[in-house]
Amino acid sequence: MSKRVLVSGGAGFIGSHVTVELIEAGYDVVVADDFSNSDRTCYDGVRKITGREDIPLVEMDFCDLEATRKLFSDYAIDAVIHFAAFKAVGESVAEPVKYYSNNLTSFLNVIQAGRAAGCKNILFSSSATVYGEPDTVPVTEKTPRKPATSPYGNTKQMCEDILRDSVLAYKGLRGIALRYFNPIGAHPSALIGELPRGVPNNLVPFITQTAIGKRECLSIFGDDYPTPDGTCLRDYIDIVDLAKAHVYAVRRMLDGRMEEDYEIFNVGTGRPVSVLELVNAFEKVNNLKLNYKFAPRRPGDVTAIWADPTLANEKLGWKAERTVEQTLASAWAWEKHLAGK
Ligand code: UFG
Repeated sequence: MSKRVLVSGGAGFIGSHVTVELIEAGYDVVVADDFSNSDRTCYDGVRKITGREDIPLVEMDFCDLEATRKLFSDYAIDAVIHFAAFKAVGESVAEPVKYYSNNLTSFLNVIQAGRAAGCKNILFSSSATVYGEPDTVPVTEKTPRKPATSPYGNTKQMCEDILRDSVLAYKGLRGIALRYFNPIGAHPSALIGELPRGVPNNLVPFITQTAIGKRECLSIFGDDYPTPDGTCLRDYIDIVDLAKAHVYAVRRMLDGRMEEDYEIFNVGTGRPVSVLELVNAFEKVNNLKLNYKFAPRRPGDVTAIWADPTLANEKLGWKAERTVEQTLASAWAWEKHLAGK
C-alpha cells in the first residue's frame, strides 16, 4: 500500500511543486491549505499535471488545533511536510506577533495532533536565512546559525529547535529540516508557479513582472558589495529540483534510513550567482531586454551566501540538475501563462 503524505500549505509555490513530485513518485498526498496566500490555481495545475482529479484538498488553518486533529483522524498520515507559514520578511518586521503566532502555533499543532494520531515523520521547510550573514561561504549544515535578522527568520530557527527538541523527547518521532536557498522558476508545464500577491519582494518574480510590463523597472539593490560585480551572490535553485529533494527526504524517513532521528540538509546547488548575472542570463535565454537600474542596498540583505550541498548529495542521493538558464526560461513561461500569452 502506498504511503500517505500530508502537505500543509500544499497549494502554495513550493507545496504545489512538492505535491506533483510526491504523486509522480507513487505517494498518496493530502493537500491542506487555508488559501491565505494562495488560491486554487496551483491546486488545479497539480491535478492537470498529474492527471489525478482525486487529490484530497482540505481547506483549513493549522492554527486551529481541532481542525488539525480532525485532519489527522480523517486520514492515516505516514509523514507530514509542513509548509504552511507566513513568509514575507518585511511584513514580519512590521507585524511580529502575527508571524510568531501563526508560524509557531501551526507547527506546534502539527506536531501535537500528528503525535496523538501516531504520525512519526515530520519534515520542516526551513531556510538559509537561519545562517544570517555567514563568516565563510559556502555554508555547510555545521556552519553556526546567526541571530535571526527578522521575526520571519526567527520563526524558522525556532521551528527547527521545536522539531529537534520534540524528536529528542518523543520516542519514535523523526524529523528532517530542509534549509532552502533561493527557490526560483516554475514547473516545465507552466501550469504551476509562484503567485506573489502585490509587489513581489523576491528577485525573479520582479524580473518576470517587469519583462511582461506589469512593473516599470527592476531595481538592483546595491552595486557596491564586495563581490566580483558588486551585486549580491545567492544560490538560486530550481523549484522542481528543490521539490525532488523532499521526495528523497521523505523516502529516507519512511524507509527507516535516517542516521539520526533529527537531520538537517541544505537544499542548494553550490553555485553562487550574482543579481546582475541572473538578470543577464534571463535576458539572454529569453531573448529580451529588461528595464533595470541600480538602486541603494536593501536593508537586511546579506552580501553572499550559497550552499555546500554535499550532505544532501551523499545522504539523500539528491542533486540539483537544472541549469539557471532552464530555470529562468521556466519562470518566463509561467509569467506568460499567467498573462494568457
Ligand atoms: N533583489 C533586487 N531587486 C529586487 C529584489 C531582490 O536586487 O527587486 C536582490 C536582493 O537584494 C538579493 C537578491 O536579489 O540580493 C535575492 O533577493 P530575494 O528577495 O529574491 O531573496 P533573498 O535572498 O533576500 O531572500 C531569501 C529567501 C527568504 C529569506 C531571506 C533572508 O527568499 O525566504 O533570504 O534574508 F528570508
